[in-house]
Amino acid sequence: MPVRIVIGAQWGDEGKGKVVDLLSKDAHYVVRYQGGANAGHTLKFDDTTIVLHLIPSGMFNGNSKCVIGNGVVIDPISLVNEIEEVESLGVNLENRLFISSAAHVILPYHKVLDKVKEKSRGSDAIGTTGRGIGPAYVSKVSRVGIRICDLLDKSSLNEKIKKNLNDINQALVNVYGEEPIDADEMIAELEPAIETVKPYISNTTKIMHDALQKGESILLEGAQGSLLDVDHGTYPFVTSSSPTAGGACTGSGIPPMAITHAMGITKAYCTRVGNGPFPTELNDDAGEKLRKNGQEFGATTGRPRRCGWLDLVALNYAIRLSGMNELTLTKLDVLDDFDEIKICTSYELDGETTDAFPIETDKVARVKPVYKPFEGWKTTTKNFSSFEELPGKTQEYISFIEEYTGVRFNIISTGPKRNETIIR
Ligand code: IMP
Repeated sequence: MPVRIVIGAQWGDEGKGKVVDLLSKDAHYVVRYQGGANAGHTLKFDDTTIVLHLIPSGMFNGNSKCVIGNGVVIDPISLVNEIEEVESLGVNLENRLFISSAAHVILPYHKVLDKVKEKSRGSDAIGTTGRGIGPAYVSKVSRVGIRICDLLDKSSLNEKIKKNLNDINQALVNVYGEEPIDADEMIAELEPAIETVKPYISNTTKIMHDALQKGESILLEGAQGSLLDVDHGTYPFVTSSSPTAGGACTGSGIPPMAITHAMGITKAYCTRVGNGPFPTELNDDAGEKLRKNGQEFGATTGRPRRCGWLDLVALNYAIRLSGMNELTLTKLDVLDDFDEIKICTSYELDGETTDAFPIETDKVARVKPVYKPFEGWKTTTKNFSSFEELPGKTQEYISFIEEYTGVRFNIISTGPKRNETIIR
């Protein structure tokens, strides 16, 4: 049975939610393995649109069980809001949602720290989502984090939180000139959320191992994208976790040898939210048109996304990082009315041509993209059910990407709805 990772092959927002929703009808388990409520996975079905931030996107298609793995950082208040929203759509989460006892908790002080640290960075700000992600992973690796299992023991939880706040309040007051956080008030605000979350707390690593033993199918849902990976992305303009395939293993307890498929999701163009280099960014009418046609505004923060042409140097890098052996192309329809479309096939860097994505972020900022132009197809790509029915020029565009990367598109998405999809 397949154990498939769905990974963002760009800077996030590639449309992973729709793909996971589609694939989940055949999955026994759908598992989030990293990130937190910085993610916004949009699902559209019937007349409903829902944006999931923490609950896996498998909740609405079929009966797959949904797991929030140990690698995720969880804001209990945000999770409870989401649980209530999902239940209001008639989904019963009992026996469908499992939350790892080992996942770390995002507390209100992480969100305050995220905001004050961003403010103090001034023009070097990362452009975070402000959801406390970085500070929560800092607590985790500094070994002072609160885990989901700690929520079950009230007195030791209070003690740990108060100890952490001693240090944090000193920094807030003395370094950032902010008000200190009151521990008792903070704990009191958290209590109702803890009660709601409790029934879902589980040993999800054992659940995964039992599923593997039984040969059940598992779909691992990445958040953000490969180029935001804390190790392999455009550091420091990255998120604080590992969206790439390695993160799927550490963030779920599934061993690397069990993974059978790594599916990369890429848009037919590129976007990025937040700061950091973006070689193919367009600050012209074409960029504006991509933003307008693609409704490129953040699902979590509402920020306008930066837009640009598809970058095959970056895509190939993402493919190699995770060993992607299948791809999905999303938002193809956004290009339907362009006269000319470009694809970046190499970079010029300090007078040399290269097809390698640089590790040094200042080099990524200096590269000049080399483009191959394509004539636009100027007709709709919606409502086709096979690749062969697509306009010839669209087929040429897609085939060029496949030949360059050596990986086939198994799914082509031409709109946000489930039925606007070509499965090959
Ligand atoms: P953080 O994850 O909130 O710390 O933000 C770090 C960087 O990752 C910022 O540039 C964010 O805009 C970006 N980022 C975080 N989550 C997402 C996402 O789900 N989609 C796209 N970009 C994201």
